[in-house]
Amino acid sequence: MKQLVVSLTFSHEKALGQQVLELEMTLADSEMEKLFVDRFGTDGRSLIKVRAPGRVNLIGEHTDYNDGFVFPMALTRQTTILAKRRKDAIVRLASSMEPQMVEFSIDAPVKKEAPKWSAYPRGVAEALRLKNLLKVGMDALVFTDVPLGGGLSSSASFEVASGLALLTVNNAKLGLADLALACQWAEHHYAGVPCGIMDQYISAMGVKDHAMLLDCRDLSTRQIPLDNAQIEFLIVNSNVKHELVQGEYTARRNQCHRAVEVISRAFPTVKALRDVSMTMLEVCRMELDPVVFRRARHVITENQRTLDFAAALEAKDWTKAGQFMYASHFSLRDDYGVSCPELDALVDICGTIPGIYGARMTGGGFGGSIVVMGRHAAMADAVVAIDDQYPQRTGLQASHFVTTAGAGAQVVKDLAL
Ligand code: GLA
Repeated sequence: MKQLVVSLTFSHEKALGQQVLELEMTLADSEMEKLFVDRFGTDGRSLIKVRAPGRVNLIGEHTDYNDGFVFPMALTRQTTILAKRRKDAIVRLASSMEPQMVEFSIDAPVKKEAPKWSAYPRGVAEALRLKNLLKVGMDALVFTDVPLGGGLSSSASFEVASGLALLTVNNAKLGLADLALACQWAEHHYAGVPCGIMDQYISAMGVKDHAMLLDCRDLSTRQIPLDNAQIEFLIVNSNVKHELVQGEYTARRNQCHRAVEVISRAFPTVKALRDVSMTMLEVCRMELDPVVFRRARHVITENQRTLDFAAALEAKDWTKAGQFMYASHFSLRDDYGVSCPELDALVDICGTIPGIYGARMTGGGFGGSIVVMGRHAAMADAVVAIDDQYPQRTGLQASHFVTTAGAGAQVVKDLAL
């Protein structure tokens, strides 16, 4: 049956090319359970099921690790894990997308070993083990319809789902906010990405039909309802793979750190770029490397845009909100240097469509996706324009889907049910 999973994937790839990335999770529970039984050679009794969504960030990019504001929403696309409690401390993991089964033990520090995708569950298991929350392991099968490498937090959704599965089979209690922090720890220590808290937090704590204004300094949140009748969000994947681990993300973090070092000499109360105003930055301009100055300017202006965007959305002023999205994109492109020609082309194409209010790159950058906000009727026009112009301009095919805000992580089927 392992064969069947693989051949199903191949036939989709052949038939649909890039579209395979955008395959919606349509497997029924019974089909997933059958795949689990085939993969683990065990019965399907006492299976638990958990899910954790990917995310799209509407605005507030590269602000989370500067103690700033972000405004993401959870997607309806998600990582789903079926798991069965084991009696010993072994975790066995299989993925519907990977041929290789992963096995590790949680009765000692979890080893950092190949394959690469296992870094996420390994790291989360270690974070939970260090909190003394785990006694037994599990057999687990992972499914996802979050496009991998699409800048939509497929890894955070995998981390949060892995953590929730481990907690559930152990009957262990941990608040979702603490689970998000444990997953961030995993990303830092096992995946090697010094990420902020946004992705794991929204995956764990998202609320259906709401976007979440998160203050990354004190982790306070405001859930802001989205008016689905008047606005829709289109996600367009440039199909340029982003690779945060390859240094650029870390380089940006270091530049922000450098800016704070310099600015805090003149303004000792400054602990993070969150505390810096444009006036303060101007005062320090001569002491700052010009690149570091621009990086800091992005973060300072982006924090304000995020608050202004949230206010415009609450006031249902879509045109104004959309302008903040474009401004965010240009700032990420020009000051922060994390866009790429493909993302710029997509934003440019969407900017010409009547009824589209705003568009911007979303996530870490260097590829991945853009998010487009507009009226329902405009979405089809945007898709036609993208399909027509993007291949001509870049030689690539984009994939896209319209989304509403989904719910955060959930145990769908518990041990007791
Ligand atoms: C990645 C990181 C987040 C955040 C974004 C940029 O998605 O995981 O923590 O820094 O990039 O906003």
